[in-house]
Amino acid sequence: MKIKKVSKDLSKLSWEDFYAQPLDKKINYFEKEGRMFDCLFAQQLNPQNLNILFNLANKIRKVAKEKGGLDWLQTTLSHKRAMLYFVQPSTRTFVSFQSACYILGMKVSEIRSTSTSSELKGETPEDTVRTFSSYADMIIMRHFEEGMAEKSAWMLNKTRRPISIINGGSGKDQHPTQALLDLYTLYLSFQDKGGIDNKTIIMVGDLKRGRTVRSLSYLLKNYKNVKIIYSAPDYLKIGDDVKAFLKKHRVSFKESNELYKFLPEADAVYMTRIQDEYDINNESKNIDYSKYHLRKEHLKLMKKSAIIMHPLPRRQEIDVAVDDDARAMYWRQERNGMWIRTALIAYLFRIEEEILRY
Ligand code: NCD
Repeated sequence: MKIKKVSKDLSKLSWEDFYAQPLDKKINYFEKEGRMFDCLFAQQLNPQNLNILFNLANKIRKVAKEKGGLDWLQTTLSHKRAMLYFVQPSTRTFVSFQSACYILGMKVSEIRSTSTSSELKGETPEDTVRTFSSYADMIIMRHFEEGMAEKSAWMLNKTRRPISIINGGSGKDQHPTQALLDLYTLYLSFQDKGGIDNKTIIMVGDLKRGRTVRSLSYLLKNYKNVKIIYSAPDYLKIGDDVKAFLKKHRVSFKESNELYKFLPEADAVYMTRIQDEYDINNESKNIDYSKYHLRKEHLKLMKKSAIIMHPLPRRQEIDVAVDDDARAMYWRQERNGMWIRTALIAYLFRIEEEILRY
């Protein structure tokens, strides 16, 4: 097969040719002056920008505690507007981004369904996004179509008004800011226990269609000697693309459909719900998901120092009785999301030094 030579200027490629490029070839198309400009893929996060984001989130969280500090933070981006374009259901990601914008004083507009935008009149998502860029300085988007956030950023970067795009979930593919808040939670939980290096993380449930586990897996390559155990029913196993990535980056992983056997090894247990909205033929109905549930009686199998995570929303995979256990981290994890997303927005607008100096 003849492989098309990548021109230095990727903007000359058609969208289809651009989309087909391997990620490491095109990642700098979403950077400006060597810094991330659009946040689309977990692979854009590296030890350098992660370190800045974690420090910044810690600082913002501290400054926002006092009225004077929060009042000041709210002046830092009071001249900027954000568009929240969320055309797939969302509670946490939407509200935490909205709150993050408020913390920095940004003005926010929202569209939450294609049925209330001109897309109902036949406007393409591309023209819709281009329209947002006439009014907003940043677009935070969740879309059911894989690649839509990337396509939007690709398109806007060619216009005379490029604005940053943050991917708040792109179909079954990626959810980089969820992975970021998951990683921030791991970082906070293990900061007095040797950090994320050398930890074992068991990821449980619908690993085939859960975008959060995919993005988090990519992020873990930034740490030394992390072990991942993927525990899923056969039909919902982690994708080969993720496995190939981990092999390439020498991240150790194994797969098992026996959750309870491997629970004692885990430093973090990352639970997920079945993603049946992506069913083609009601196939989730035939899957026995009950073996991937965490109930009170399973807690004794876990290390005392381990943490339980979940991107939420949950169904039955974590019994509410587990919430009272000190190891249940998911509600704090949710709140961590607001702080790290605030840090991400501040970073994309390049005001991190101003905040860190405060
Ligand atoms: C996740 C998502 O939308 O991918 N939710 C979230 O953003 N916290 C997980 C899910 O819906 O199961």
